Amino acid sequence: MKILITAGPTREKIDPVRYITNRSSGKMGYAIAAAALEDGHDVILISGPVSIDPPAGATVINVESAGEMASAVHQHADKADVVIMAAAVADYRPAHPFDNKMKKMPGKLYLELERTEDILGSLGKNKRSGQLLIGFAAETDDLENNALGKLERKNLDWIAANLVSDAFAADTNKITLYKRSGEKIALPAGSKTDVARNMLQVILT
Ligand code: CTP
Repeated sequence: MKILITAGPTREKIDPVRYITNRSSGKMGYAIAAAALEDGHDVILISGPVSIDPPAGATVINVESAGEMASAVHQHADKADVVIMAAAVADYRPAHPFDNKMKKMPGKLYLELERTEDILGSLGKNKRSGQLLIGFAAETDDLENNALGKLERKNLDWIAANLVSDAFAADTNKITLYKRSGEKIALPAGSKTDVARNMLQVILT
């Protein structure tokens, strides 16, 4: 199968030297890409800026911003049998990024932010039949309810729910998978490599 996987954070430009980002390491998405390659699938890995090497054999597309990630995903999603959005895409970006480095001024600074595209939400709206769409919910609280809301709102087949404290910047993770039809599967906690293998086994069989 052709599997499209996104991973890592995005960077949203404030000025030529500053940006807004998040703590995603990309490790979970990269582990899923490696597990999919082990199983003999074709992998397109669309990655935000991370400091880990991509698995050999993946077609890697490096992007920075949510806008660039959206373009890359839309360009490749049509031919994908499975799309797994593990990236921590920024929900907001500076509305008026500066071309020149900002200079400090007396007083407070207010930064106006605008929404980015909900990439997975768009894919869910235009889902072609037979395509599997998998999202991630990374939450600090109310994990199950938040995950189920995203599964429904974004028209997904599965959502992988994890706590920020278990997932971010760690080499291990603890994921519960929720299926659209109501199934709930708690994967054993373990290395991201093992969790990724188990996750693919569940969603692809
Ligand atoms: N996602 C995306 N595009 C965005 C933001 C998130 O495709 N601009 C994807 C992530 O890759 C992840 C899932 O959507 O798979 C997580 O969505 P999130 O933004 O956390 O969900 P929301 O429904 O926006 O919920 P909230 O912001 O209220 O937590």
